[in-house]
Amino acid sequence: MSKYQRIVILSGAGLSAESGLATFRDTDGIWKQYDYRDVATPEGFQRNPHLVYEFYNARRKSATQAHPNEAHRALAQLEKSYPGEVLIVTQNVDNLHEQAGSSNLIHMHGDMQTMVCTNCDAVLPWTKDLSDDLTCPECELTGGLRPHVVWFGEMPFEMNRIADALSKCDLFVSIGTSGNVYPAAGFVAAAKHVGAHTVELNLEPSCGASHFCECHHGRATEIVPAFVQHLVSGQPFEQCQAA
Ligand code: APR
Repeated sequence: MSKYQRIVILSGAGLSAESGLATFRDTDGIWKQYDYRDVATPEGFQRNPHLVYEFYNARRKSATQAHPNEAHRALAQLEKSYPGEVLIVTQNVDNLHEQAGSSNLIHMHGDMQTMVCTNCDAVLPWTKDLSDDLTCPECELTGGLRPHVVWFGEMPFEMNRIADALSKCDLFVSIGTSGNVYPAAGFVAAAKHVGAHTVELNLEPSCGASHFCECHHGRATEIVPAFVQHLVSGQPFEQCQAA
């Protein structure tokens, strides 16, 4: 009988860092090159849509050239082989979890491989560049397409489903996130409130590290496969890490 029956995993940009995708708040992070108010808010899009299109077109291009790493693959393997439920809630807008084989997955901040039409609300797969002269395949109106991602000041997706999963989980694992942005940064408190064991796997202690029962710091491609092996085998994490 496995120790945990319902596992919720929160992932952030640090999980995709070793796939070559920039994080946001590291020294070479995205918010060191751009002001988030210009490229990740509705007001910024209103002010200068061309800059926002360019920002996401460049990120989408690098995301399509990236590949899942050992940490993504270990999480997909956990979902397949673990007898309990494994739900991944990702803040990431790349599709590396899907490429690694994860399917029980919520993109709470959306994903760059889809677009939304602001005229008819259609959400459609979209891997090409976006611009303001494109026609929506649904309503055939021009100029209303934007990346289907959640900007600052907008409500993340599927919050009811996430809250329900957190209220029933017995293990919450936070991977590769700095714990700077709510509501995701508050998930550990929700999990602890229902008695779940809480684990942080991150390169360095996050802002919320003190809220976690257990922390392991290191590169995701090392500590995530080790932690998955620890969950599946029941062996101590340290032994799995050494292997
Ligand atoms: N392995 C593990 N963790 C890593 C690695 C790595 N190789 N590289 C970096 N990290 C850690 C950093 O130490 C940092 O704590 O990943 C975290 C990344 O933090 P952020 O850059 O703040 O990214 P994230 O937490 O995902 O941001 C949350 O903020 O701007 C918004 O919408 C954006 O979804 C994003 C949200």
